[in-house]
This record gives sequence, structure tokens and C-alpha cells, in this order.
Amino acid sequence: MKIVIIGGTGLIGSKTTERLRAKGHEVIAASPNTGVNTITGEGLAEALAGAEVVLDLANSPSFEDEAVMAFFETSGRNLLAAGKTAGVRHHIALSVVGTERLQESGYFRAKLMQEKLIRESGIPYTIVHSTQFMEFLAGIAQSGMVDGKVHLSPAFVQPIASDDVADAMADVALGQPVNGLVEIAGPKRFRLNDLVAQYLNAAGDKREVVADPDARYFGAYLEDGSLVTDSNPRLGRINFEQWFATSPRK
Ligand SMILES: NC(=O)c1ccc[n+]([C@@H]2O[C@H](COP(=O)([O-])OP(=O)(O)OC[C@H]3O[C@@H](n4cnc5c(N)ncnc54)[C@H](OP(=O)(O)O)[C@@H]3O)[C@@H](O)[C@H]2O)c1
Repeated sequence: MKIVIIGGTGLIGSKTTERLRAKGHEVIAASPNTGVNTITGEGLAEALAGAEVVLDLANSPSFEDEAVMAFFETSGRNLLAAGKTAGVRHHIALSVVGTERLQESGYFRAKLMQEKLIRESGIPYTIVHSTQFMEFLAGIAQSGMVDGKVHLSPAFVQPIASDDVADAMADVALGQPVNGLVEIAGPKRFRLNDLVAQYLNAAGDKREVVADPDARYFGAYLEDGSLVTDSNPRLGRINFEQWFATSPRK
């Protein structure tokens, strides 16, 4: 089967590409670096010709409010239009658990726009909602920096390793469209400030983490349950310690 992975050179995209190629599928790892650009349209029609399944695993180069909305809206519209023309029978995208609860944030408004365009496209689809990637912990720590300290909400988080995310994306690609959401999460729940403190400590990073209920998460206020789901998600197998011991992306 021909499968196109938009963002196929990224963290999740490259691992999903490997898994589907190992199963014998023809996989196009599409990105600006391989000559396919969903913003300009370059190479898109050629990449999608004859494809049955498209996975959108791209991310915006900028998280600034207007730039990120422009990215996901333009990319989504171009990709879905090209998918319709090519007769794609399953469009899959990766989004974030709690996106609908995080609408104070420009990033999550853009992800919700991406999801809306998919739901309204008429192409059979599956939207996968994932919790935070363990590989994103360094970025979360950086996002909370105020005067040399890391300020983070004590809301719950249930981080997942990128290998578990890629396993799930490959399974969804080989399954039928659900025309709705599939949720995935890591094996264990933490308080966000505790997890990042554990991560920084393990990495030998001396920055202090301050539990701050008012600290925003990429612009959004967090309730205890904003970043987690109770609706029976598929759980990853890799715990934080296993991930930390083997990850090159500390
Ligand atoms: N971080 C988290 O904790 C988390 C949690 C849940 C869901 N997600 C979602 O997971 C998705 C993938 O994230 P990731 O961390 O794997 O991304 P990533 O490593 O940052 O990779 C981004 C990919 O997007 C591609 N890209 C950028 N601009 C493009 C364009 N104009 N046309 C086509 N491709 C383009 C990049 O291509 P080049 O290499 O050529 O630049 C790269 O392959 C995102 O949509 C994100 O919202 C993230």
C-alpha cells in the first residue's frame, strides 16, 4: 500500500516511516527537506498520486500565535484538497489530548483548526490525540523559564515515549478510519512540575522547578485534568526511567 507521511522527517514521522517500511509498505517521507511542502504546495500532488493513506505528522516551525494558525490552516487546506483529488481513503493526523480545553493558547487554537478542517473534509479520517512526548520535556522546561527558574503548573501529565507514539501511528495507518478520535498516553501519571524536576535532576540540570498553579502551559491555564484523559486511552509501554536510560534526546 502507498502511504504518504507529511512531516516524515520529524521525530514521530521518521519513526513511523521506519515501522511501515519494515512491514513492506511504500512510504513517502514527505517534508520540505524531501521536496514536499504543504504550505507552498510544492511536490504535493506528485507525492499523493496513488496514495491510499496520508498521515499528517508535520509541525509548525513557529509557535507564535499568528504564525502557527497560518501554518496549520494553510497546510491543512492544501493537504486535504490534494488528498481529495488523489482519492485518499484515510487521512490521519496527530494532535494533543485536551486540545479543546486549551483554547487560551494560540498553538492549541491552531491544532483545533487543523482538526476542524479534517472533520469537515469529507475524507474518512482518524485524529489521534496524544499526551506530551517524553522528548518534549526539555521544551516544556524551557517554556516555563522566569528569572532563571522553571515555573510549571502542578496539573497532571501522562507522558509518552515517541517510540510508543510511532507504534500507535503505524497501527492506525494500517487500520480502518474511525471518523473520530483515538487517544494515546504513557503508562504513568505525574504532576507536571514533579516530572520536569525529576527529568532535570536526572539530566544533571541544576535549574529549580517552582510549582506554580498560575503558570500557563504555552499560554493556557491548566486545571488538574487539562492534559490527561480518562476515556480509556491506548497506553504506551515505555516508562520514564526506561525512556531516559535509552534516549539520545535528553
Ligand atoms: N510535542 C508533543 O508533546 C506533542 C504531543 C502530542 C501531539 N503532538 C503533535 O505531533 C506532531 C508531530 O510532532 P513532532 O515533534 O514529531 O514534529 P517535528 O519533529 O518538529 O517535525 C516536524 C515535521 O514537520 C515538517 N514540516 C515543517 N514544515 C512543513 C511544510 N511546510 N510541509 C511539510 N512538512 C513540513 C518538518 O519537515 P523538515 O524536516 O523538512 O523541516 C518535519 O518533518 C505535531 O503536529 C504536534 O502537534 C506533539
